[in-house]
Amino acid sequence: NKRKLLVAGNWKMNGTRSLVKEFIKDFDTKFLSSMDVALCPPSILIAEFSEGRIPVGAQDVSACDNGAHTGDLSVSMLNDFECKYCIVGHSERRDDHGESSELVAEKAAKLIEAGITPIICCGEPLSVREAGKVNEYVEAQLKAVFDRIPVSQLGDAVIAYEPIWAIGTGVTASPQEAQDVHAFIRQFIASYDGKLADSMQILYGGSVKPDNAKELFGQADIDGGLIGGASLKAKDFNAICQAA
Ligand code: G3H
Repeated sequence: NKRKLLVAGNWKMNGTRSLVKEFIKDFDTKFLSSMDVALCPPSILIAEFSEGRIPVGAQDVSACDNGAHTGDLSVSMLNDFECKYCIVGHSERRDDHGESSELVAEKAAKLIEAGITPIICCGEPLSVREAGKVNEYVEAQLKAVFDRIPVSQLGDAVIAYEPIWAIGTGVTASPQEAQDVHAFIRQFIASYDGKLADSMQILYGGSVKPDNAKELFGQADIDGGLIGGASLKAKDFNAICQAA
């Protein structure tokens, strides 16, 4: 039997207070009993979600505890607002803010210490896929995390594989292309710890929509999705949860 599925929405830099209200009203809470669900809005909207029952997450966190880091948020702040999840190492943060895999590992370690589930993102640009080096690229990204955090502490961590060429493009990886990388990632985890490899949720992200979710989630090593654009409409998000 496969792992419990997780469907996590990433609103990125989109959304308003009124969209949160609308989303809470239209999200079908029946999914909360059969699967894991999370919604990661811009941090300024996290508190607005307290009126609903959807578990919330942040899109990033600082690797520092507190103090002189203008613009950043700490793990204790996320805990104060009852964040259950936090995305780290999204390709947009790696690109926009030059985040290294070592920094991503540091952030993940902080989150785990604070009892927040990190959703650790990895994934290759098109040039790497065309060069046939996907596994090596993804392995290097994840190795930084597995070298930094002992496997005994990684039990609640989640990995999201997001090929950059599939993000926001409408071009999704084929179910087989995605499955191949997911199987490789699970094998990589097994090289550290077999039990952890069996239990860890590995999400796929990149143009997941209501009409392709079922086939993607049906793959042996795909345990749900990290949903960008389609998570902004509760109707689409419901349909994707329904496919899980
Ligand atoms: O975090 C979400 C991903 O980057 C996927 O975004 O569903 O808009 O392609 P997308």
